[in-house]
Amino acid sequence: MERHAKPMWIAGARATGSRTDSICSPYDGAHVGDVILADPDHVEQAVAAAHRAQRPLAQLPAYRRADALEHVALRLRERQEEMAAVIVAEGGKPVRWAMAEVDRAAITFRLAAEEARRWSGDLQRLDTDQAGEGRLALNRKVPRGPVLGITPFNFPLNLVAHKVAPALGVGAPIIIKPAPATPLTALVLGELLAETDLPEGSWSVMPVPNSEMDPLVADPRLPVISFTGSGPVGWSILDRVPRKHVTLELGGNAAVVVCADWNTEADLELAARRIAALGMGNAGQSCISVQRVIADRSVYDRLLDKITVHVRGEVLGDPRNATTTVGPMITEAAAERAQAWVREAATAGATIVTGGDRDRALLTPTVLTNVPGDAKVNRDEVFAPVLTVTAVDSEQEAFGVVNDSAFGLHAGVFTHDLATAFRAHRELQVGGVIVGDVPTYRAEQMPYGGIKQSGVGREGVRFAMDDLTYDRSLVLTAIEL
Ligand code: SIN
Repeated sequence: MERHAKPMWIAGARATGSRTDSICSPYDGAHVGDVILADPDHVEQAVAAAHRAQRPLAQLPAYRRADALEHVALRLRERQEEMAAVIVAEGGKPVRWAMAEVDRAAITFRLAAEEARRWSGDLQRLDTDQAGEGRLALNRKVPRGPVLGITPFNFPLNLVAHKVAPALGVGAPIIIKPAPATPLTALVLGELLAETDLPEGSWSVMPVPNSEMDPLVADPRLPVISFTGSGPVGWSILDRVPRKHVTLELGGNAAVVVCADWNTEADLELAARRIAALGMGNAGQSCISVQRVIADRSVYDRLLDKITVHVRGEVLGDPRNATTTVGPMITEAAAERAQAWVREAATAGATIVTGGDRDRALLTPTVLTNVPGDAKVNRDEVFAPVLTVTAVDSEQEAFGVVNDSAFGLHAGVFTHDLATAFRAHRELQVGGVIVGDVPTYRAEQMPYGGIKQSGVGREGVRFAMDDLTYDRSLVLTAIEL
C-alpha cells in the first residue's frame, strides 16, 4: 500500500519533499504516519519568508492577529477528539490526558488573542526631574524578530501553542521545529493556522532532523530561540549562540512537601490522590511531574500508605482506552533507562514499595522509599512514573531538601498555614510554588520557567509575549503636560 507522508508547512503553505520519516506508536510500535523532512532548501524558504514577514505581521492591526488566534482556539475545540487521537497515537499519552491537552491549547490561543488586543506598551512622564521638563516617553513593545521554536514530545500541542500563540500575538513570525517523535500534532495544528489570513511567512512548521539543526540555530535572521526540551541540548544552544535571545524551558525533579498540619484523613487522601495522579500522569514525562515527595514524619506513614494505594490504582496500558491513566514512555529505551535508575537506587538501599517492572515502554508506576539523596531517582530528572518518598523532621529540613537540587522549576506545598505558604514562597528556589497542590499544576497565563538548571526566561502567555519583545521608547519633547 502506498503511504502518503504528511506535508510540512513552509511559510503557511503545504510543502512536500523527497525525504520522509516514519512515526510509530510508543505503545505497540504500530505505524502512525509519515512526515516529510525539511531539506536545506525548505529551511531557507521558511527562514527567508519569516524574515520578510516581520513588517507585515508586526503592522497587522491587533484585532486581525487576535481574530486569527481566536479562530485557532475555536477550531481546536471543534477538532478536539481528532487532535487528541493524534497525540495518543504518536506520543502514547492516554486519551483522557490528551483531551485535556487540547483543551489547554485552546485556552493558550484564547489568552493570546485577549492579550494581543491589550498589548500596548505605556506612556511615561519624564518631568520627574528638571532635565525632563516638557518631555514624555511612549514605550512600545516591539518584536525582537522572527522566532525559532523548538518543541518537545511530551506536550506536542500545548507546548507548541505556548510558542506560536504569543509570537503571533506580538507580531513575531515563528518557525516551529517539532520533536522528531511527535511532529504530526504540530502539523495538524498547521491546518488550523492555515485557515487564518495571517501574512505569508508568519509561521512555518517544519520537521528537521536534530542532527541538521545547526544552520537554523545559527541563522542571524532568527534572533530569538525558544527551546523546550532536555538540559544538555538547551544549554548547548545557548553556548552556541550566546548573543541571540534564547529562552530555555528545561527539566526538573519537582518536589512536593506535605507539612505536619496537613494531617486529617481528608487532607492526606487529597494529597495522595494528587501525588499519584500527577506523578504518574503522562508517564511522569512532564518537567513538573511530582518526583520527590517530602513528608513530615508525623504524617509520613499514613501518607505513604495512601500514595501506595492510589499508585497501585493507576491503570497502565493502551493509551487509546478511556480508562487508562498511565501510558507508555516515549521509547522503550527511555523506559529501560528509568528502570535502571530504580534498580540502582534499590542496590543503594532503597525500598521498592510498588512498581519497578517493565513491559517494553510501559514502566509500572513506581514508589520508592529510603532513597539515598544522591541516587539518580532523587538527584536527576527521572522523567518517568517514579516517585521517591522521604520523611523529614521539620519544615526547615523539608525546604532544605527541596532546594538541594540542581533544578528549580516548580514545588508544591500541602499546608493550611498561610505563614508556611509565605515562607515557602520566600525560601524555595523555584519558578513557582503551588500551595495546596502538587507542583504539576500549571495555568496557561502563569509565568512558567525555572532557575538553576531548569532554564532561563519565562513562558506563560503574557510573559512569553514580554520575552519576545523589547521596549522601544519614543521621547516627545516640548510637550505641555
Ligand atoms: C513541561 O513539561 O514543561 C510542561 C508542563 C505543562 O505544561 O504542564
